[in-house]
Amino acid sequence: MKRWSSHRLLLLLLCILIAAIPLIAARGQSGPASRAAAPTDVPKSLRDLAAGRGILIGTAVEPLPVRADPDYAPLLTREFNLLTTENVLKMGPLRPDITTYYFEEADFLVDFAESNGMKVRGHTLVWHNQLPEWMTDRTYTTSEMTWIVNDHITTVVERYRGRIWAWDVVNEAVLDDGSLRPNVFLQTMGPDYIEKAFEWARAADPDALLFYNDFGAEALNAKSDAIYAMVKDFVERGVPIDGVGLQMHVDVNSPPNPADVASNIMRLSALGLQVQITEMDVRTSGDPSEAERQAQIYAAMLEICLEAPACTAFETWGFTDKYTWLGTQTAPLLFDPLYDPKPAFFALLDVLNRAADQSPLP
Ligand code: XIL
Repeated sequence: MKRWSSHRLLLLLLCILIAAIPLIAARGQSGPASRAAAPTDVPKSLRDLAAGRGILIGTAVEPLPVRADPDYAPLLTREFNLLTTENVLKMGPLRPDITTYYFEEADFLVDFAESNGMKVRGHTLVWHNQLPEWMTDRTYTTSEMTWIVNDHITTVVERYRGRIWAWDVVNEAVLDDGSLRPNVFLQTMGPDYIEKAFEWARAADPDALLFYNDFGAEALNAKSDAIYAMVKDFVERGVPIDGVGLQMHVDVNSPPNPADVASNIMRLSALGLQVQITEMDVRTSGDPSEAERQAQIYAAMLEICLEAPACTAFETWGFTDKYTWLGTQTAPLLFDPLYDPKPAFFALLDVLNRAADQSPLP
């Protein structure tokens, strides 16, 4: 009798234990992890905040880290809603010979952007750099070069018709003194190559936004004056152009004057053009003491963009110092090489948050 009751007691205890397992497990889940997942506690991303302010926030992307670095794509798609093709649509990588187009890499990035709700800036149709060897190895007549450029723009823009939101149609055609860069296009086709490029791009995709893009013309100087005069002339003569891209590759020790950048954007927008900050990075010596100053420069430029209704996108040239054309040691971007956010990232978040507080959109 006594033996039976101790068995029963054991059985009872076992039953109580089994019944309690789900409760214990549920308790484990109700800790900090599940609280962090509650919607109200998740910090808003750059892209969420920017969307609320009516601008796009973007970055330049190469296919390799998207495919090979598991930490890269999640951060990219969390923070940005605009993707610029960093290299894959340049003439060199795209056209291994005069009649062949190699679209695989660009297709990959455009597909990736679409499946992650990001718009695409196509960079770039006509540029003096990263040209294929078959173009630089010999000279071409005016009609040959006209065919090459027309075929290029028509083929590439038509292929991505309705999928590439904005194009850098012509990149870096003006020198610091305001004269036209003596590149292979100017030499063979004459100064009209620029407006022809815009006309061919418009014909290939009437809905894509068409930009002239350049560096060192963010503030007021001979170069930005010349670009202003050029695009003013285009607008007056009906050459199809929608905007000007300010690359914004700047140095932490000599950033452009914010008031002058604002004036430049204002005069361009008075022509009815959009302006986009297209390639911002802020080069430092790599000393972490420069990170705060770097953050202030990023913040100042985003503030200017937000204050100008014509400024429709703000883009950085990459987002992690792990992958930057300037070299990791110059630490020019928003995240460090281990993907930790830097003061520059928090400064942009802060500007977007403050802007949202000041004038909430309906
Ligand atoms: C740079 C790319 O980031 C590099 O990977 C490449 O080796 C050279 O070109 N202005 C531009 C961009 O318009 O196309 C450049 O991109 C950076 C400067």
